[in-house]
Amino acid sequence: MTSQAETVTVRVPGKINLGLSVGPLREDGYHELSTIYHAVSLYDTVTVQPADDWSVHVTGPWGDRVPADASNLALVAARTLARRRARRAKVDPVRIDIDKNIPVAGGMAGGSADAAAALVGCRELWALDHIENDMLEGIAAGLGSDVPFLLHGGTAIGTGRGEQVTSVLARGELHWVLWAGEDLSLSTPEVYAEWDRLREEAGTVPGTPEPSGELMAALRRMDTDAVADALHNDLQDAAISLQPVLSEALAAGLDLGARGALVSGSGPTVAFLVGSQTEAIDLSVGLAANGPHGDIVRATGPVPGAQVVHHRNSPEPYRALPTPHRPGPPGPVTG
Ligand code: C5P
Repeated sequence: MTSQAETVTVRVPGKINLGLSVGPLREDGYHELSTIYHAVSLYDTVTVQPADDWSVHVTGPWGDRVPADASNLALVAARTLARRRARRAKVDPVRIDIDKNIPVAGGMAGGSADAAAALVGCRELWALDHIENDMLEGIAAGLGSDVPFLLHGGTAIGTGRGEQVTSVLARGELHWVLWAGEDLSLSTPEVYAEWDRLREEAGTVPGTPEPSGELMAALRRMDTDAVADALHNDLQDAAISLQPVLSEALAAGLDLGARGALVSGSGPTVAFLVGSQTEAIDLSVGLAANGPHGDIVRATGPVPGAQVVHHRNSPEPYRALPTPHRPGPPGPVTG
C-alpha cells in the first residue's frame, strides 16, 4: 500500500558531448547524428511523492528558469509512465520536486535529465517491476532525443537522432570545468537551423555521421591530451554564430591552460577538459577572474545515469530496480 508520506528521490547527472557529428536533415525534422555522450557530476535531484493532483515545483540555482506547468518534461514523463501503469492499476498523481543545478537551455540536457529521473522515480514509487528497461527506454526516446542516455549515464555512443545508445566502456576519469554564461541560453531547434543555414551558405552536403575513431581510441586509453585533441562538435560554429561570446569563453579557457575545450551539444555551456582536480581549481579561479561573466563549476565524468538515492517509507525493504545498461567492468571501447 502506498502511504502519503512515501517519497522517492533520484539523482541525475547532466551530460556533455565529447564528439558530435551532424548528418542530413530527416523527413521527421530531426538530424541524423553520431555523438559520444559523457555524463558528468553536476546533478539535479528529483523527488516524487503521491499527491492529490499532478504538480511540479522547482528550486535551486536554475529553478526560476524552468516552467513549473504541464509542459515540464519531468511531469510529462511521469504522466506518460502513469498511462502505462493504468493498464494494471489505478493512477495516483504525483508531486515532483526538482532541485535544479544543471544549467537550463544550456546544452547539458537538463530537462531531459529531469524526465529520466521522473521515469526512474515513478517506476520505483509505483513498484512497476513489469516495466522493463527496454520499455522505459522506449518511453524515454519518445520524450526527447537525450532522455535514453540520461537513464544510461557513463560514456556512450548516441546514434539515430541521439536516442539509440550503446555503451562505451572507457577506463578512468576525466576532469572538467564547465562555464555557463550568465543570462545566456540557446534553443536546440534554433542551433540546428543555424547549422543548416551555415552549411547551405558554404555549399557543403553532410555525409553519414560516424563516431570519431581518434576519440574512441583516446577514450580507450583514457589519455587526457589525446581526448582533448579529439574533442569535436559540429554544432559549435552554429552556437558561436548565435552567441559570439562563446568564442571568447573558449579562448579564455584555452589561454588559461585547459587541455581542450568545446561547446556542449547545442550550447551555450562550454566544457573545458583539464588533467586533474588541481588544474580544475586553477582554471576555474582563472576563468572567474579573467573570463567572460558566467557560472563556473567543476565536474568529473563519467558518472552513472538516473539513480534512486532514497526511498522513504517504502512498503517493502528497499530494493533498487536495475538501471538500464548499468556500466559494466572496465574493458575495451565497444560500439
Ligand atoms: O529530441 P529533442 O526534443 O531534444 O529535440 C529538440 C529539437 O532539436 C528537435 O525538434 C529538432 O529541431 C532538433 N534536433 C535535431 N536533430 C536531432 C536532435 C534534435 O534537429 N538529432
